[in-house]
Amino acid sequence: MSDMQQLPLFSSLKSTLPESDLTRLNFSHDEVCPQVERVALEKRYSAILDETNKFNRKLVSYQGNKGEIVHGWIKYREGFSAQLVETLLNEFQITPGQRILDPFSGSSTTLLVAKSMGIDAAGIEIMSVCHLAWDAKSQFQKYDLKELRDVRSQLVESIPTQVLKNFPHLTITEGAFSPVVENDIMFYTQWVEALEGTPGTKTLLRLLLTSILEEVSYTRKDGQYLRWDHRSEKVRERNQIRTDQGKEPIKKVDFGSLQGVKEALLNAFDVVVSDIRKLQQLPFRSSHQQLIKGNALYVLPELEPDLFDGVITSPPYCNRYDYTRTYALELAYLGEGDDIFDLRQNLLSCTVENRSKLKMLEAHYTALGQLERFKTIQKSVQDNRVFQEVNDALAARWERGDMNNRGVLRMVKQYFTELTFIFAEIYRVCKPGAQVAFVNDNVRYGGEIIPVDLLTTDLAATLGFEPVKVYVLPQRKGNSSQQMGKFGREPLRKSITIWRKPHAPQLHP
Ligand SMILES: C[S@@+](CC[C@H](N)C(=O)[O-])C[C@H]1O[C@@H](n2cnc3c(N)ncnc32)[C@H](O)[C@@H]1O
Repeated sequence: MSDMQQLPLFSSLKSTLPESDLTRLNFSHDEVCPQVERVALEKRYSAILDETNKFNRKLVSYQGNKGEIVHGWIKYREGFSAQLVETLLNEFQITPGQRILDPFSGSSTTLLVAKSMGIDAAGIEIMSVCHLAWDAKSQFQKYDLKELRDVRSQLVESIPTQVLKNFPHLTITEGAFSPVVENDIMFYTQWVEALEGTPGTKTLLRLLLTSILEEVSYTRKDGQYLRWDHRSEKVRERNQIRTDQGKEPIKKVDFGSLQGVKEALLNAFDVVVSDIRKLQQLPFRSSHQQLIKGNALYVLPELEPDLFDGVITSPPYCNRYDYTRTYALELAYLGEGDDIFDLRQNLLSCTVENRSKLKMLEAHYTALGQLERFKTIQKSVQDNRVFQEVNDALAARWERGDMNNRGVLRMVKQYFTELTFIFAEIYRVCKPGAQVAFVNDNVRYGGEIIPVDLLTTDLAATLGFEPVKVYVLPQRKGNSSQQMGKFGREPLRKSITIWRKPHAPQLHP
């Protein structure tokens, strides 16, 4: 695949390729770096690019889940919508009795939709907060509404008192709550522990407490970091230092009036009980879903081959977004404080702090007696010319001073390398004929556009997948303010790539 025809020079492609909204001809701002491979890649797959209204930005994001029964029990902004999963399951003609996979399950949208449609499913997810969400959501048929009514009455009557237990803060969450709120969170934590209730109800209450942490705090999730309200001690202290140094205070951020813990808990409780009541009236075909805790890079190679009839997933994007920072409050609360560094390192490389996992992966494949397979997969990504061009371009941009963080070079290299291992294992665990959907965003660093949708499609094709479609959302993605300021605005594609494992056996790793 990567040995495709001798490629024409960029200048000649420029005059022969039709310019369209979908395909692009310029990947390197001011044509500073070679882009011939990326241009050829666009050309190679232009026939399967399909801009469609079937999927819009709302459906591809958590927004589409707002107000949706069960899916809204915890705000997981990185999630896609239930409707997106439903549409894809229908498109793939997956029916009850069949089994699907989501190796980056997040808030388990895929698993829950599968459950609602009587389809078997397995998910893999690394973060404890997602597992708690699954444990509580997946039990919706089993909750006893009478028990929940009793618990609500007890909750209404409860009066928080001073407790000795402290919130298990991480350095980055210190000061996230007012002293009263922090005390009340710990009061209700103990209250739930002491409650005479079924384990399921306690799990549900633990999820509710976890789900309200952000709204009762001085923080809000914002991509790579948490944003802080000006009333928090952290911002006040920082401003005091700035004032002492004769500097302007940092820009004021105000989240408005913050709810108390009991009020927020009761509100969340009412939404959940109303959902449970509605869900328990619906007929559900019995089916089986399982969420596996762990790193998909290590879990997938251990699964049996030919298990799944389809895959619907969205990996972390190659955008420096750090889940361990944005979910720091929830992870700290759930006692992941000591493990946060390991967790960050185990995420699919999507931050500048991620170190290479190749040595560990090699050891893992070796232990499974699959060292040759490891080498073949690694080689398939290293040999990819688009991958090479992107890496070279970023290195050149770094040398020119067009990038402010060298870690981006490593992140991009690792991102595509790790994804290639995921694709290879997905290929193996899928049945022939199975279709695979990956939701992802294209990105730009140092003025260099990385066509994530087509590069991943190309890597998947090298492993044996048939590229079927690249659905492009009508709305493009904006750029970071830093990229815009330096290199102008370049709307980027948000896409859903669809590949198929062919029926006829292919030579693949
Ligand atoms: C874009 S989110 C998926 C959201 C999901 N589609 C939903 O609707 O909630 C990507 C997820 O991958 C998880 N993740 C990242 N690296 C992982 C890894 N190596 N193994 C398993 N899960 C991982 C993250 O914790 C995150 O929940």
